[in-house]
Amino acid sequence: MQKTWEELPHPYDAWISIARNLPELIENNQLRMEVDKLAMLSIDGLRGHRAQRLGHLVLGYITMAYVWGQGDGDIRKVLPSNIAVPYCKLSEKLGLPPILLYADCVLANWKKKDPSGPMTYENMDILFSFPGGDCGKGFFLVSLLVEIAAASAIKVIPIIFDAVKREDSDTLQKALLDISSSLRKALDVFSQIHEYVDPNLFFNVLRIYLSGWKGNPLLSEGLLYEGVWDTPKKFAGGSAAQSSIFQCFDVLLGIQHTVGGVPSDPAAEFLQEMRTYMPPAHQSFLLSLKSRPSVREFVLSKGNATLQKTYNECVQAMVSLRNYHLQIVVKYIIIPASRQSTGESSEEDLEAESKGTGGTNLMDFLKTVRGKTVNCLLKEH
Ligand code: HEM
Repeated sequence: MQKTWEELPHPYDAWISIARNLPELIENNQLRMEVDKLAMLSIDGLRGHRAQRLGHLVLGYITMAYVWGQGDGDIRKVLPSNIAVPYCKLSEKLGLPPILLYADCVLANWKKKDPSGPMTYENMDILFSFPGGDCGKGFFLVSLLVEIAAASAIKVIPIIFDAVKREDSDTLQKALLDISSSLRKALDVFSQIHEYVDPNLFFNVLRIYLSGWKGNPLLSEGLLYEGVWDTPKKFAGGSAAQSSIFQCFDVLLGIQHTVGGVPSDPAAEFLQEMRTYMPPAHQSFLLSLKSRPSVREFVLSKGNATLQKTYNECVQAMVSLRNYHLQIVVKYIIIPASRQSTGESSEEDLEAESKGTGGTNLMDFLKTVRGKTVNCLLKEH
């Protein structure tokens, strides 16, 4: 039986001991040897959702470490069957891809130091780490805290749909105020990233271990999951783009990245694809939101200036989050990337530097998504 959220029963504890010592094993160049020695385990003894999610998290960490090694370019293109087989079986059971996901390293990778204390940075820790010191802790926990701040608005969603159905503008107005206030809190929490995440460690160390094997020139064919598939498979690396929370408010507010349900450009395609990296329950939640009456259409139809203003404050909060996120990407990716190149670089050069890292042009992608959010603001009459 699983004793705590951090432990797995024997024989799966062998996975946990590797994952818990990942930075040391990598530094001493012992990680791959230890993984090669692991017995092939059936996943039948991993009972219950918690144990299975912990198993997915742990195997994700081990897989990233096995593939990227010391982060020095000595990479593995084959994941041995003793890891690949249980990992893919477990992934299939959970409806998740066999790669480290946001749902693993952020949503399932935390604990409270004092269980009766609050969910604050000071009272929390992550369960597993990559090399790069506390940078991973900062990145994963701040992402989680942003998610928690924004998620507090989820409970008003049923109130919103009910108000739209009953054409109750006052209730809708109050519920939208709750949404904009939660989104503004999320923005406030976002700023903690500067305190806890070092740009150079993020760019030069952590990012390597989060990289995937889709659109990545280092593993252009993908990864061969030995004993599972005969050909290599491509999966995108871990990213907060796999978080359902931003997409949830996009759908709720009618911020459209698709035209008639079909992605209208590469940015929309990427966001749509990222849904397949979310837990199935999150995917169905997003789909169910889409099937409800449009809040935006209702606000437009009422011609009520106060309601329109409040709706706009919600959209503006999403714009502000995306503006802030863009500044963070410049600090944590574009500037460190430019330091690696020689000579003076123009803004265009800097943007070009970031191409290929995730298979898309990051800045183009993020600016397109922000642009669609801005376009959703209602014009004042
Ligand atoms: C050091 C901090 C961060 C960096 C460098 C960063 C970088 C990126 C990059 C490069 C993308 C483009 C897609 C990809 O290739 O992965 C992206 C997308 C995204 N990120 Fe971040 N990110 C950071 C923190 C966060 C945090 C804390 C959140 C919120 C929990 C977040 C939410 C998102 C979302 C929602 C997207 C999809 C685009 C959108 O909907 O606007 N990011 N991020």
